[in-house]
Amino acid sequence: MKQVMVRGCVAVFVGAFLCSAGQTADSSRRLVIRADRPGATISPTMYGVFFEDINFGADGGLYAELVKNRSFEFTSPLMGWSEVKQGMATGSARVLDRGPLNDHNPHYLRLNAGWGGYGVANEGFAGIGVRQGEEYVFSAFARGDKEIPMRVELVTAGGKVLAQAKLADFGSQWSRKSATLRPSVTEPRARLQVLATAPGVVDLDMVSLFPKKTWKNHPNGLRPDLVQWLADLKPGFVRFPGGCIVEGRYLSTRYQWKNTIGKPEERQGIINRWNDEFKHRPAPDYFQSFGLGFYEYFLLCEDISAEPLPILNCGMACQFNSGELVPLEQLGLFIQDALDLIEFANGATTTTWGAKRAGMGHPKPFNLKLLGVGNEQWGPQYIERYERFARVLKERYPKIKLVSSAGPSPDDERFQFLWPQLRELNADIVDEHCYANPDWFFDNARRYDSYDRTGPKVFMGEYAAQSVKTVSPENRNNWQCALSEAAFMTGLERNADVVVMSSYAPLFAHEDRWQWRPDLIWCDNLTSYGTPNYYVQQLFSRHRGDLVLPVEVTGLPPATSQQPGLYVTASRAIRSGDIILKVVNSAAQPIASDIQIEGVKEVSRRGTAIVLTADRLTDENSIAAPKTVAPVASTLREAGKAFRHSFGPYSLTVLRLKARD
Ligand code: AHR
Repeated sequence: MKQVMVRGCVAVFVGAFLCSAGQTADSSRRLVIRADRPGATISPTMYGVFFEDINFGADGGLYAELVKNRSFEFTSPLMGWSEVKQGMATGSARVLDRGPLNDHNPHYLRLNAGWGGYGVANEGFAGIGVRQGEEYVFSAFARGDKEIPMRVELVTAGGKVLAQAKLADFGSQWSRKSATLRPSVTEPRARLQVLATAPGVVDLDMVSLFPKKTWKNHPNGLRPDLVQWLADLKPGFVRFPGGCIVEGRYLSTRYQWKNTIGKPEERQGIINRWNDEFKHRPAPDYFQSFGLGFYEYFLLCEDISAEPLPILNCGMACQFNSGELVPLEQLGLFIQDALDLIEFANGATTTTWGAKRAGMGHPKPFNLKLLGVGNEQWGPQYIERYERFARVLKERYPKIKLVSSAGPSPDDERFQFLWPQLRELNADIVDEHCYANPDWFFDNARRYDSYDRTGPKVFMGEYAAQSVKTVSPENRNNWQCALSEAAFMTGLERNADVVVMSSYAPLFAHEDRWQWRPDLIWCDNLTSYGTPNYYVQQLFSRHRGDLVLPVEVTGLPPATSQQPGLYVTASRAIRSGDIILKVVNSAAQPIASDIQIEGVKEVSRRGTAIVLTADRLTDENSIAAPKTVAPVASTLREAGKAFRHSFGPYSLTVLRLKARD
């Protein structure tokens, strides 16, 4: 029997090969957890989330606004709106720009009602989801004939009125009007109607409908069920706002954080780069209102105790699109944006940008510690830009860790070019991206065992197993993909001395409006569910532990896509003293193994086993069946310092064992 020392912490004894039959009978299988030889500290940022406004993740998703094109700034200014004429009503609805609400929001709607019952309806984002018994706040900036009475209402597609309220008393200057709507029934696809009930002229802008209940009741807030999914992950960080969205197809449509703060009505929206990216999933009405902007992202991080990781454009547009470059001599403006962002997040309220944060309601700093320079860039053009950013940022803010890019692939020539360059530049954390088939993930569970321990740390910043192929609309969030990600994650955790962050991508998708799949969390207008992949993330994140514990594996060959078996990682939670063992069984049969814990005085006989598994590798969750694949916890009654445990076929198991030194 030969002993193979695997870099990091796991010793694997090869020899007693698993044969597919009779695996459960082999009593030579042993997992020895060495609590007396704790290894690397597992960073609290090890498992986080990556948010991007793709699949209607922000507008129409996380951002609770229910009106689409509320400010009439879409390229077709009446997109999302339609004319309503009740009975004999006459009138006109036109978008104008003379005497706007403000310069950033130059267009508004003029309703000229010739007779009552004339107005417009908004279709929301594939309808407006409203619940019986809840309150919805309608608001709009308005000016017009003092005497013109207006009615706002929620109606079904068939025209049945669900809620109504009146607006009146308009003046010649813009002022904010509001009213509360209480729908009589729950309706996933309502419309909002705004009607003049007598002849007259009224101008409207920022026509908004917000549920009163937002996450923590923040004004201009977020959809509570969707934030709850994030909070339940206990993520170590939130990376935002993307993704390719940071880069823009052209530099003119790159994400500029300064345009996303301040009063919502003063934030200038732009087209969303996912609008027409995929011919197979066109979304001509996909724009970014920036109602969910950098202030709200920071607030979200604070609310769910996650480190904020903003990613900034580094002077390069998306290299899959135009690849436009800012000349190096003009890069100063982009670097200044980064410096200003740090001041916005952390600066005293006496500083220019710190004062803006305070003005928005948060005098306390957000304590930003991480910053991404560029998203998924590559080539010498990236290196020369990153180098300039790093030089300035490190001098001013040496404690802020910078995240740099290793390109879009985990092993191609772009990757091979970037890593040595970033090593040379002493980069802090390198962001690797990987969208590949499940086999890749099974086969790369040992990827980081052989990484150089002296260079930059790794952020596995975007990964997801693709059941068909990257960007195929046929990809599924099935159990096979999730299981392969779990196997891969055992390798991230075992190598916590190198890998300090990781996040699945993308995060959210709307059932009716997605462009890219798979995605971690799916929603429609009223409900949402976590995918099997979500539950994998959740189990790793919530049972992270603080220190890696080596595991000596006897009688089991290293598992691969071709040789299914066990993938293992163990850790110790310092506060509770718990020993946490995570095991993925990628085989179609149960695998039983002795488990032995060395280096602690006592391990309680009672422990907890949490198992995530499915009947079939093709199983998925859905709105109708959200828990087909979900973790099940049970009490272990026969644990202790040595016990035998059988790991079910195609399963991820987390064993939590109470230990005393
Ligand atoms: O996650 C979807 C996209 O994949 C991201 O925007 C980009 O960074 C990557 O190419």
